[in-house]
Amino acid sequence: MSEYALRPLRLADAPALLALMKRAEGGLGRLPGEMDLPWMEEALSGALAGGVAIGTWEGDGLIGMIKASRMPSVQFQHVLWDLTVAVAPEAQGRGVGRRLFADLIARARSATPGVERIELVVREGLTHAIRLYESVGFRQEGRFERRFRLADGTYEADLPMALML
Ligand SMILES: CC(C)(COP(=O)(O)OP(=O)(O)OC[C@H]1O[C@@H](n2cnc3c(N)ncnc32)[C@H](O)[C@@H]1OP(=O)(O)O)[C@@H](O)C(=O)NCCC(=O)NCCS
Repeated sequence: MSEYALRPLRLADAPALLALMKRAEGGLGRLPGEMDLPWMEEALSGALAGGVAIGTWEGDGLIGMIKASRMPSVQFQHVLWDLTVAVAPEAQGRGVGRRLFADLIARARSATPGVERIELVVREGLTHAIRLYESVGFRQEGRFERRFRLADGTYEADLPMALML
């Protein structure tokens, strides 16, 4: 297995991030045709403003990312939400996703103001992703029936999950 390095994402990484997310299809809430640079820059800016955004590089290539935003409003400031994680297809299954979660959680633990809760939503068919999330401490908190409509016209429930720090 070759070496890879993690570092916080910057707004200048938005084009590389966009290219990665367009390739990491499967579980993301947007289809590649719905992703463009203005959207990517807005999403990344949201995470950079008080949240966490980390990339994994192999050489010059971005092979993984995780980001979560700080929930707006004083009463929700202890919450990170809108979590996105994506690993390039050729780099999946090598521990990149697990490393990204470990780094996100470590950074959340030392963030100011303090983070007490991290939220994500995953469609129920992504069982390998759900197992990963559970193994790093996320617990399912509910079930949004028929929320995810797949390309073949079938539906899946979307599962809200949370990790308490
Ligand atoms: C979900 C995702 C981020 C996981 O990243 P990854 O780098 O492949 O995951 P890891 O290699 O760290 O593996 C984590 C665990 O999941 C398991 N796993 C990963 N991919 C798997 C697969 N396709 N099938 C079965 N198990 C899998 C691994 O065995 C590992 O378990 P272990 O550490 O106990 O051995 C990645 O598959 C991905 O980007 N998918 C496309 C985008 C997506 O679906 N994002 C999530 C939206 S909610």
